[in-house]
Amino acid sequence: MTDYLIAPSILSADLARLGDDVEKVLAAGSDIVHFDVMDNHYVPNLTFGPMVCKALRKYGITAPIDVHLMVEPVDDLIVQFADAGATYITFHPEASKHVDRSLQLIIDKGCKAGLVLNPATPVDIVKPVLHKLDMLLLMSVNPGFGGQKFIPQTLDKLREARALLDAQSAKSGQKIRLEIDGGVTPSNIADIARAGADTFVAGSAIFGAPTYAGAIDAMRAELAK
Ligand code: DX5
Ligand code: ZN
Repeated sequence: MTDYLIAPSILSADLARLGDDVEKVLAAGSDIVHFDVMDNHYVPNLTFGPMVCKALRKYGITAPIDVHLMVEPVDDLIVQFADAGATYITFHPEASKHVDRSLQLIIDKGCKAGLVLNPATPVDIVKPVLHKLDMLLLMSVNPGFGGQKFIPQTLDKLREARALLDAQSAKSGQKIRLEIDGGVTPSNIADIARAGADTFVAGSAIFGAPTYAGAIDAMRAELAK
């Protein structure tokens, strides 16, 4: 059975009470904390940096922190986020001049490494560095903002990525998580899982719901179907 992970995006959390809100969303049954880092350069929005990640660790958050870098360049922030307690660090290949070197930097810092593909970036781009990946993240919206609509063409990309990751696993035993980010809701999560995703980022669908547990339980019920 697939080991599904639900990853609330703290972009949609109550930022004035972040520690409490992250604790609350984990207690409601989520698995990992999705941490969206935006620099007003790679994407037209600005969020939070390594100090906030460090503060969450100091506050007592022990769950894996999944740092999604939407910044350019990436290397300095890879080091800072690794030191701040990140578990996964993922970045967009367009944002690094030397993708293999940046992935190696994440690995050398003891974190799990991943690449993020925008809706218009082909899956093939990851082939030369597959052996370095713990995570492949497909964007199902253009990055920069929460609350956007899921782009349906992403389902075909997920199927293509799933085939690639399964072939890699058959060849080397390597297990790479396939994460989806953008517009995920209880109504589309089953189709997304059937297309091959095993890790689901959701911001507005969880933090905007009447109760976090209600939204997370609804997602898990769809995944169990
Ligand atoms: C967009 C971010 C997403 C976003 C997801 O650039 O990477 O993580 O916050 O938000 P929803 O689930 O609201 O689409
Ligand atoms: Zn994200």
